Amino acid sequence: MQDLTPKPGDLDPIETGSRDELQALQLSRLKHSLKHAYDNVAFFRNNCEKKNVHPDDLISLADLSKFPFTTKQDLRDHYPFGLFAVPRDKIVRIHASSGTTGKPTVVGYTKSDIEMWADLVARSIRAAGGRSGDIVHISYGYGLFTGGLGAHYGAEKMGCTVVPVSGGMTERQVMLIEDFKPRIIMVTPSYLLSILDEFRRQGRDPRETSLVSGIFGAEPWTNAMREEIEQAFDMHAVDIYGLSEILGPGVANECVETKDGLHIWEDHFYPEIIDPETGDVLADGELGELVFTTLTKEGLPMVRYRTRDLTRLLPGTARTMRRMEKVTGRSDDMIILRGVNVFPTQIEEQILKCKGLSPHFQIELTKSDRMDEMTVHVEASPSAASSDQRSASAAELGHHIKSIVGVSARIDVTAPGNVERSAGKAKRVVDNR
Ligand code: DLL
Repeated sequence: MQDLTPKPGDLDPIETGSRDELQALQLSRLKHSLKHAYDNVAFFRNNCEKKNVHPDDLISLADLSKFPFTTKQDLRDHYPFGLFAVPRDKIVRIHASSGTTGKPTVVGYTKSDIEMWADLVARSIRAAGGRSGDIVHISYGYGLFTGGLGAHYGAEKMGCTVVPVSGGMTERQVMLIEDFKPRIIMVTPSYLLSILDEFRRQGRDPRETSLVSGIFGAEPWTNAMREEIEQAFDMHAVDIYGLSEILGPGVANECVETKDGLHIWEDHFYPEIIDPETGDVLADGELGELVFTTLTKEGLPMVRYRTRDLTRLLPGTARTMRRMEKVTGRSDDMIILRGVNVFPTQIEEQILKCKGLSPHFQIELTKSDRMDEMTVHVEASPSAASSDQRSASAAELGHHIKSIVGVSARIDVTAPGNVERSAGKAKRVVDNR
């Protein structure tokens, strides 16, 4: 794989400036952002009054912990535009994240929010080894989902040639990668695996493509999956994180030269880790729920938004900004099986250890005799699909899950192509209890 380390002069000065400089910027921006929300969002003002706290009470960054949290439910309660901090005609774009039930969560951006977003996605692409002039193949979905358009504006801002393919029509994805010769691909890791299968189905060697780096996010994925992807395509695989309520893609990104977790673009978002039960702020290094406060958003400023994503904050390495560890999972996706907490990423890790299995999997939860049961449906790899090989793989995976994750699971090793595919985020858990 090519060495894609950026030259220091290519980075924004703040990316490698001092911590002091960064914190001074955060503090002045935070004061401004709290005041903006307080003056313009009745919901936030009322919540502050209930907690008897005012933006003027923020003297240091640590004082942020005095302020109330915001949750997804708060956005739902003010559906669609109730938390916007500017008149509606200053909002130039709406996105929404699909709720599994009921109304979606609606977010809005001013012109300057869109500019800032594009800058941060451009910065993320650069962190992944992209540069001006690259062809960028975007398979994140275009539409209300922030993935496609968010990536698109950033790649354009970077000076790239954008191929806005969106998700789906996998045969055509392969054809366009072969014909247009992109250097960068942006896609969910699970959909990349479908593209990989299609390469193999057509008898083409994915290691021969023009791709040098892939920017994967919108769902949890493991370092084991990184290895799988890097091997298969002979390209770098880096993680991009974001959420609609805070921005979309580009809140944090891994640097290709270190691949050691995602640098949070802290000049625009202030992160905290809290204990999800008590709401107390935890020290850097401790595992808990990630909370963000936006520092520069105009349309929808967010104060202490609870992401429900579980991770920890780590010191900066390739950049001054702190890192977040790869997200283990969302608290909502955590399966509690007979008292043991299980995340789909833990199952993914074990599957990737078994040579006879492909990384396409889905977890089904059922109830029998009042006991919860977990079945892992996973595809055999095409080269190990005989019934003997499948039983051997099932036994191997069952053993790994039992001894490392600590739960007994039924393993159903099914034929290649049998596990439901998605062109966007994979649905990892089906709850039939
Ligand atoms: O998924 C934004 C995005 C698009 C990020 C494209 C990266 C690439 P939402 O649909 O609002 O926005 O979903 C946000 O997805 O709270 C996490 O639970 C999950 N998520 C996003 N990126 C990652 C990641 C977009 N890199 C929710 N690792 C977040 C793990 C991720 N989970």
